[in-house]
Amino acid sequence: MIPEKLIELAKDAMTRAYAPYSGYKVGAALLCADGTVYQGCNIENASFSPTVCAERTAFFKAVYDGHRDFVAIAVCGGKDGIITGPFPPCGVCRQVMREFCGDDFVIYMVDAEGYEAATLAQILPYSFDPKKHMGQ
Ligand code: THU
Repeated sequence: MIPEKLIELAKDAMTRAYAPYSGYKVGAALLCADGTVYQGCNIENASFSPTVCAERTAFFKAVYDGHRDFVAIAVCGGKDGIITGPFPPCGVCRQVMREFCGDDFVIYMVDAEGYEAATLAQILPYSFDPKKHMGQ
């Protein structure tokens, strides 16, 4: 799947964001190895800490449905849903990616003009790797 299509699906997912506290709307589209795409949005909570990011919503939906092999994720976001700079996944979401993805997993960080792409190895160096450190 071309990045532009995955990015379109991330932008569509952003419209589902539940972000009454931060006003920050985020969308993600996760591409599985078999071609299936899972979309996710951020879902906030009045107690703040239960808030879940768009990337993890997408991952957990996919894992629940039995997927374990992933190719790429597109992520976009911005205050009131207005996309400005490239959207970098938070540290917690990077570690969730590490749980299921190899070094070559690609992250498309959407900006106002297009996107920047990076691998998981690039955005999460020296990571705690379940394969290396937990014998998975
Ligand atoms: N957020 C995401 O959805 N993904 C990230 O990687 C970083 C932050 C959400 C969480 C919260 O609802 C809002 O953005 C502001 O932090």
